[in-house]
Amino acid sequence: MDYREYSKAEAYKLQNAGGLVMICTRGVGGRYNLAPIAWSCPIDYAPVSRFVCVLDTGHQTFTDLSASREFAMALPRPSQKDLILQCGSVSGAAADKYEAFSIPYFGANRIDVRLPQGITGWIECSVSRVIVEGTSALVLGDVLYAAAIEGFWKERFHYVDEGTSFAPGAEV
Ligand SMILES: Cc1cc2nc3c(=O)[nH]c(=O)nc-3n(C[C@H](O)[C@H](O)[C@H](O)COP(=O)(O)O)c2cc1C
Repeated sequence: MDYREYSKAEAYKLQNAGGLVMICTRGVGGRYNLAPIAWSCPIDYAPVSRFVCVLDTGHQTFTDLSASREFAMALPRPSQKDLILQCGSVSGAAADKYEAFSIPYFGANRIDVRLPQGITGWIECSVSRVIVEGTSALVLGDVLYAAAIEGFWKERFHYVDEGTSFAPGAEV
């Protein structure tokens, strides 16, 4: 894949297009994990892009990034729908998803996480703040590195509900 690097100030554009992300983490025991997250958005861009992700505090993803203080948001495409649903159906506490689902991957640029091959781009973040509200956590991440293919936003997977997902497809 031919990924172009985005500066820390313009990285928010990768998520301005909206869409589901796969949060990629590494746990304290060394297990790499990934989970689909539909709820996330940019909240700032200067001096670096900042994002918020809404995570259930019971998820392994939350445990992982609370300890490592870093995570990546992988931007999947519609052809990866099965992978998205698989990774959303089991916890990384119970299984090594990369092994269980034979997920091909490549290493992230600045942090120690695995990214599934075939994604349209990704955003690496350090955790700058965690706000817990009941069983939901707002995880704020400051971008460390971001990259995407040309026209990534057309090919991004968007999730509405169990029966509805789409990719924007064309500029209007
Ligand atoms: C399409 C889809 C979207 C999801 N969006 C979210 C979300 O925004 N926040 C969240 O906490 N969980 C979300 N989930 C649920 C988690 O991905 C799921 O519980 C996952 O198995 C958690 O894995 P983990 O325990 O390894 O972190 C979503 C699941 C799917 C299938």
